[in-house]
Amino acid sequence: MHLILFGAPGVGKGTQAKMISKEYGIPQISTGDMLREAVRQQTELGKKAEAVMARGELVPDDLILNLIKERLSRPDCQNGLILDGFPRTIPQAEGLSRLMQQMQLPHFNCIEISVPDQVVIERLSIRQVCSRCGADYNPKTNPAPADGICTICGGKIISRSDDNKETIQNRLKVYYEQTAQVKQYYQKLGRYYSVDGNKGVNEVYARLKNLLKSLT
Ligand code: AP5
Repeated sequence: MHLILFGAPGVGKGTQAKMISKEYGIPQISTGDMLREAVRQQTELGKKAEAVMARGELVPDDLILNLIKERLSRPDCQNGLILDGFPRTIPQAEGLSRLMQQMQLPHFNCIEISVPDQVVIERLSIRQVCSRCGADYNPKTNPAPADGICTICGGKIISRSDDNKETIQNRLKVYYEQTAQVKQYYQKLGRYYSVDGNKGVNEVYARLKNLLKSLT
C-alpha cells in the first residue's frame, strides 16, 4: 500500500497514520516529525527549518524533497508506506511523481481527512506532546499524566511551539494558500479520496479501513 494522508493541520493525519502503520506493518513517514527531530539534533536542516516551523510556514521544497528521497530509499519502504504531511505544495507533488518513476514505485492514493477549521483550532489548542519521543497527549483523547512526564519514554510533556493561537491561524492560512491545491493534482490523476475526520478516533479509523479495502 502506497498512501498519502492529506489534510489541514490537526485533522488527525498523524493519529490515523500511526494506526495504519501498526496494523498494516508499513512505515509512517511524517515530514513534520522528521523536521522536528532535525531541530532537536540541530542538524543543518534543523537549523534552517526551526524558525520557519515556529512561524507555521513551509520549509523550502528542495529541502523537503531531498529528505523524502533519502527516506523512500530505505529498505523498510519496500512493501509500502504512508506519507503524512507530504506533499504540501504542487512542486512537492510533482517531485514525488518524478521519484515514483525513478524508483519504480506504484501509484500513491491520496486520502484527505476533512475536519472543520474550528474543530482543528480546538484540537491543536489543547494538544500536548512529549519533548523527547513526540508522543501525543490530548485532554479529550489521551490525557497527559498529572506529573507531566511521558509514560512511554520519561520525557517532559510540553505544548508544540507552533500550537499557539496565532501560529495555528497562520498554519491554516498557509494550508489554504499553498497546500489545498494538491487535492486537485490527485483528483486529476483519479487517485483522490476523502473521509470525514470529525468523528471519534476509532470511527475515523474504521472508515479509513473500509476505504483502504476498496482500494486494494
Ligand atoms: P506537521 O507536523 O506535519 O504538522 P501539521 O500538518 O500542522 O499536522 P499536525 O501534526 O498538527 O496534525 P495532524 O493532522 O497530524 O493531527 P494529529 O493526528 O497530530 O508539520 C509541522 C510543520 O513542519 C509545518 O507547519 C511546516 O513548517 C513543516 N513541514 C512539515 N512537512 C512539510 C512539508 N512537506 N513541506 C514544508 N514544510 C513542512 O491530531 C491533532 C490533535 O488532535 C492530537 O492531539 C490528537 O490527539 C487529536 N485528535 C486526532 N484525531 C482526533 C479525533 N478523531 N477526535 C478528537 N481528537 C483527535
